[in-house]
Amino acid sequence: MAVPFFRLDVSDAERAAVDRILQSGWLTTGGETKHFEKEFADYIGGDVEAIAVNSNTAGMHLALEAMGITSGDEVIVPSLTFTATAEVVRYLGADPAFVDVDPETRCIDPDLVEAAITEKTKAIIPVHFGGLAADISRLSAIADRYGLQVLEDAAHSFPTTHHGKIVGSLNTSATVFSFYANKTITTGEGGMIVTRDRELAARCRVMRLHGMDRDAFARFTGTSSQWRYDVIAPGFKYNLTDIAAAIGREQLKNAENKRAKRQAIAERYIKALSELPIELPPTSGDDVHSWHLFPIRVLAEAQTGRDELAEHLSSSDIGYSVHYWPLHRMTYWQSCYNLDDARFPVSSRHGDTSISLPIFDDMRDAEITNVINAVRSFFTR
Ligand SMILES: Cc1ncc(COP(=O)(O)O)c(C=O)c1O
Repeated sequence: MAVPFFRLDVSDAERAAVDRILQSGWLTTGGETKHFEKEFADYIGGDVEAIAVNSNTAGMHLALEAMGITSGDEVIVPSLTFTATAEVVRYLGADPAFVDVDPETRCIDPDLVEAAITEKTKAIIPVHFGGLAADISRLSAIADRYGLQVLEDAAHSFPTTHHGKIVGSLNTSATVFSFYANKTITTGEGGMIVTRDRELAARCRVMRLHGMDRDAFARFTGTSSQWRYDVIAPGFKYNLTDIAAAIGREQLKNAENKRAKRQAIAERYIKALSELPIELPPTSGDDVHSWHLFPIRVLAEAQTGRDELAEHLSSSDIGYSVHYWPLHRMTYWQSCYNLDDARFPVSSRHGDTSISLPIFDDMRDAEITNVINAVRSFFTR
């Protein structure tokens, strides 16, 4: 039986919710998005505001803009991440400063963060890699010591906890989630900025819709003059549609259930693959792990490589991916900042030896068994 790398899990509830919006006549950002924002903020708790956007990338751009990041500033990012984490820094004319990740957690290494701080450094963007929280306690302590801001790239990590608190409530400047199609909850494309900083939230709301001081929903559902609005800055077009928000609200109701299903798959993989010459993804002690990814690493003692395993999975009709070919090896970042492998041994090793196995919440029993058998048969042939 073929196993895809990912398969979407939507139910009749999502289909009915979309139909309800189509029939309502209001498709763009409106009442449904406001409900989604309120429910998401309640889920995170702790008096946060939630601002819905059309991607995590857009949300991180808005948050950095609201934090005042500008040309000449430096923002510290991990090398082992998707390019969006670094590109949003460039959108503002600032420069990402790449650092390596911790070999255990695969999240940004706090010691290397501290060593990379210069007079130009303004912020740190940790990524909660694969759904395991980065060490926000240590990173926040470093940020406080040097007067830096922390923007959490939580594209992989909903719902995830760190020291008993859900990511989004950790008291950093802002946290941005992704609802891209293969994320733990999805709206197709979408994202959510979460922050306790009221000023930052207000700036993100204005800038997500052209820098206008009143959005269309406020104008056409309010009592005062419909047409009148002011433009206070050259903003962006980053708002979420009500169609997407309707899907998100249904997905949010099942978030914990979806996470628990991923965890059960991860536990089966860990049990069945632990004897093989591979490094399994780290678990998280008492922290809740959202298990967006299940990346394994082929160890040197296996006397074979990741590419051979990839070929074997392909010929067994099993989907896989690699997270990530590190940014310091990507043409643009490498040439722009003159980066080389020697500075990033952990990310480089990860790029050369890791492969992500399928993990999605409606994975069938036989599919999980197939993946396990394919990986085991590769190492025992
Ligand atoms: C670590 C990381 N950051 C940011 C993003 C961008 O998310 P989006 O597609 O919602 O813009 C992704 C996307 O997969 C990601 O993996």
